[in-house]
Amino acid sequence: MLKKFQDALDRRNETGILRTLKPQLSGIDFYSNDYLGLAKNKEFQLQLLSCVQENPALLSGSSGSRLISGNSRTVTDVEAFIAKEHQYPEALLFYSGYNANLALFSTLPDRHDTIIVDEQIHRSVHDACRMSHAKKVKFRHNDPEDLENILKKQTGTCYIAIESLYSMDGDLAPLQEIASLARKYNAALIVDEAHAFGVFGYGLIEKYQLQNDVFAAVVTYGKALGAHGAAILCNETIKSYLVNFASPFIYTTSAQDFLWLSIKTGYEFIKQRPELPEKLHQNIKIFKNQNIETPSSEISPIQAVIIPDNHQLKALQSALSAREFLTYAVYSPTVKAGTERLRICLHSFNTEKEITELAAIIKAFL
Ligand SMILES: Cc1ncc(COP(=O)(O)O)c(C=O)c1O
Repeated sequence: MLKKFQDALDRRNETGILRTLKPQLSGIDFYSNDYLGLAKNKEFQLQLLSCVQENPALLSGSSGSRLISGNSRTVTDVEAFIAKEHQYPEALLFYSGYNANLALFSTLPDRHDTIIVDEQIHRSVHDACRMSHAKKVKFRHNDPEDLENILKKQTGTCYIAIESLYSMDGDLAPLQEIASLARKYNAALIVDEAHAFGVFGYGLIEKYQLQNDVFAAVVTYGKALGAHGAAILCNETIKSYLVNFASPFIYTTSAQDFLWLSIKTGYEFIKQRPELPEKLHQNIKIFKNQNIETPSSEISPIQAVIIPDNHQLKALQSALSAREFLTYAVYSPTVKAGTERLRICLHSFNTEKEITELAAIIKAFL
């Protein structure tokens, strides 16, 4: 019985793409999603510590699911706070962005509906679609024309799934155009702001004031907020529907209050430190000035250097790690074959010297 599994692992190993769990490395961070450095920020850590010292019960388990004994005052207060910050009527908290997407797309669309996803949408949305009875159709990445052609052909209710900033190419969605298509065809637009939150204020929905056009949004807290968890932003009806019907919400123990309080503390922390995203955007400019070709946006903290040769990609990553530069090589099937890439994440805490040295090593390789 194990042979089937071992064969699959062996095939991965032969093509050099076997995934293994490695210990965390110390070095110059160009690979984490800690865009604003909050996960390493001592001042933020001390604020969290003082919350715990004042109220050690924050560290205890919640004792049950939200619908039984786990619906603490803290979690409901934090949800109200988040909804207000994002100018949405309601927010619903989850352990992770993966679970939030799973809840949304496995619960809202029914078997008469169609979920139209950008072909580069995060895996969590694809997994949710497999749990749903709705039909799934892909549209070409960031291509509103292709999306419109698909929308024209549909008869039932349509959901459109996009990210505002894509995690693999580091490019931005044409959010305003897609929002106006959703309006035109009366489709429900759902936007995942995992990588935009904290990098562009609270995300691109807030930036363009599209709260009335975006049916539901997901913001995650494991990236720029240096914490963990996620919220779905939506109206009262959708929140109540999810509380009633979303298995990933209902059938799990609620997190410790510490998680929810660390999210609120994170919002307050970044609100008081506009210099963190400013420094990040300066660093992105420094990287872009090195003239390395990437498909990524000029203003994105994720820059992808396409190297469609696994061996060359591996060699470049090793050369970088020998100089203590930590980057992430992305192979297929995580990305389409032929688009393998070195993914570089820029942060507020990277120095100009680090960025120019990193760029010099990459350029010498290309
Ligand atoms: C676009 C996107 N959505 C959702 C997720 C999942 O979020 P989390 O890591 O909080 O589960 C990720 C993280 O990998 C992501 O990149």
